[in-house]
Amino acid sequence: MPEAVDTNDLCEHLVLSPLHENSRRTIETTICRKNQPMSNNIDGKVVVITGASSGLGEATARLLSAEGASVALGARRIDRLQSLVDELTGRGGKALAVETDVTDYDQVKRLVDAAVQTYGRIDVLINNAGIMPRAPLEHLKIDEWNQTIDVNIKGVLYGIAAALPYMKEQKSGHIINVSSVAGHKVGPENAVYAASKHAVRVISEGLRQEVKPYNMRTTVISPGAVATELPNAISDPDIAEGIHKFYEEIAIPADSFARAVAYAMSQPEDVDVNEILFRPTRQVV
Ligand SMILES: NC(=O)c1ccc[n+]([C@@H]2O[C@H](COP(=O)([O-])OP(=O)(O)OC[C@H]3O[C@@H](n4cnc5c(N)ncnc54)[C@H](OP(=O)(O)O)[C@@H]3O)[C@@H](O)[C@H]2O)c1
Repeated sequence: MPEAVDTNDLCEHLVLSPLHENSRRTIETTICRKNQPMSNNIDGKVVVITGASSGLGEATARLLSAEGASVALGARRIDRLQSLVDELTGRGGKALAVETDVTDYDQVKRLVDAAVQTYGRIDVLINNAGIMPRAPLEHLKIDEWNQTIDVNIKGVLYGIAAALPYMKEQKSGHIINVSSVAGHKVGPENAVYAASKHAVRVISEGLRQEVKPYNMRTTVISPGAVATELPNAISDPDIAEGIHKFYEEIAIPADSFARAVAYAMSQPEDVDVNEILFRPTRQVV
């Protein structure tokens, strides 16, 4: 039960001066704000997060759960997800884990369906799972190209496919896709990852325009260097060393991303924050 609020505290008695010099009439009025506590617009929402077993997804699950959201967490490392669920539920939160490989549509659908079956609806989907293998194109890392496209692009599309029918039916929902500074700029050794993150931005903008009839919001978030396990997937040792050094020098904590998610979610429902780009203050490109 919300605490009773003394409405008198919320009312102001105003005496307004005459509008025209030759008018003697003053206007007296009382303006009261609505007797309702401020809402964070996160409390009570059902949020599905892919790639929640580490890094940005894990930090976001913690923050949103602390703000009162029920979270459904997907990733391949189910042991990591389960211990996060234990932590969140141990603090009184609502959380569930579903082993999910986002390259398989059926598994992504199973995650979203589990959220709806357990909590009755899906308010927010965060398409966060991603990988960042880096190498020059001439190294012909074709398996890595395929995996990057499968996880970073198809995984996002599969998330949309799984959540959109529910959100259309509900006539509400919020899809948050994770791009990158690399979704705005390409550099050497980064063509395939940057292409995948450009695709995420394009898909998000197309989605934004299409879902207007369903009262839905869409946000694409593009972080710079954030300290996570992301650089661990780089197979070329020299490139990996350079990226690890870069991250050690400038990367910011993962809760920077979680706060960006919370900001987008917490706006009133008629405000649609479409794009957020942020970097460490020290990051140049
Ligand atoms: N950290 C940064 O500097 C940065 C900057 C810009 C954008 N991003 C983006 O942020 C997102 C999250 O990355 P992160 O930085 O948090 O890195 P991370 O710590 O490596 O987390 C990546 C997450 O994606 C999951 N994942 C990878 N492949 C998957 C698959 N096939 N199916 C399901 N889940 C999969 C991983 O879980 P499992 O391995 O357990 O499946 C993990 O939970 C990515 O999209 C990344 O591109 C990160």
